[in-house]
Amino acid sequence: MADHRKIGEVILDLQGISLAFGGVKALTNISFNVKEHEIRAIIGPNGAGKSSMLNVINGVYRPQQGEITYRGQHRRGMNTYAAARSGIARTFQNIALFKGMSVLDNIMTGRNLKMHSNFLLQALYWGPAQKEEIAHREKVEEIIDFLEIQHIRKVPVGRLSYGLQKRVELGRALAAEPEILLLDEPMAGMNVEEKQDMSRFILDVNDQLGATIVLIEHDMGVVMDISDRVVVLDYGKKIGDGTPAEVLANQEVINAYLGGEAGVSGGKPPADGTTRPYQGEAPRTSKIGD
Ligand SMILES: Nc1ncnc2c1ncn2[C@@H]1O[C@H](COP(=O)(O)OP(=O)(O)OP(=O)(O)O)[C@@H](O)[C@H]1O
Ligand SMILES: [Mg+2]
Repeated sequence: MADHRKIGEVILDLQGISLAFGGVKALTNISFNVKEHEIRAIIGPNGAGKSSMLNVINGVYRPQQGEITYRGQHRRGMNTYAAARSGIARTFQNIALFKGMSVLDNIMTGRNLKMHSNFLLQALYWGPAQKEEIAHREKVEEIIDFLEIQHIRKVPVGRLSYGLQKRVELGRALAAEPEILLLDEPMAGMNVEEKQDMSRFILDVNDQLGATIVLIEHDMGVVMDISDRVVVLDYGKKIGDGTPAEVLANQEVINAYLGGEAGVSGGKPPADGTTRPYQGEAPRTSKIGD
């Protein structure tokens, strides 16, 4: 853990969030907060409500109950556009990239909200639009350097390994220069080396770019290594919240998620751990906004 980082005040606060889909209670009365510059993990078994929680934070779902306070503003639910404009970016559990487009162009789509020129100027590629395009390309090139993917910048995303596609998706989210980055299983389906790389990039995004990170991850070793605080969900309820050590020592968490033998020594994957068959893990064609 990068202990030298300055973790700030609460930037995002969720109070009493409940979300149901018909009879399915995806989230029941969940409260937790996220502090500026921290890496906050959300863990829990399949179907625990983790992705639903991210979808509430960035406005894909509007909770039936509860309140969200972001940068001091209270609201019942976010909306996706307002969330994105106010600095919340995300990656998806199933990769959401344009497979036929190059790495560079995919990351460029992450700049959309930052573009000001109108379509006509852009179509003519003239004047201010041209200047703006150059500035955006420079930003994208910075991200490409940061993520060490210069060698594949012109390659169509569909031809890349799964691990690299996940890295490109991170790049697209970074292109929005987010204040809060929501990562839904950024390491699912990766081999050990790819996971180490992704862990390092997440730490660098947090440390060097100063982004606050909310991370869903099943690999307990990774979670315990890189997160500052962990919230644990089970069947839509919060059963634990605290530092990695606190969560690992919480009996309810041990019973529900880690398996009886994990204990406080920690760092051990759960019984169903990272080798379980993730739904939708394999690269597949999907759209931005999936
Ligand atoms: N759009 C939806 N319509 C109906 N039910 C949904 C919807 N999205 C999620 N659910 C249900 O809500 C519950 C929580 O799902 P969610 O995807 O948030 O879990 P998760 O913790 O992310 O699981 P996983 O580890 O498998 O990704 C599940 O029972 C799921 O079937
Ligand atoms: Mg999920």
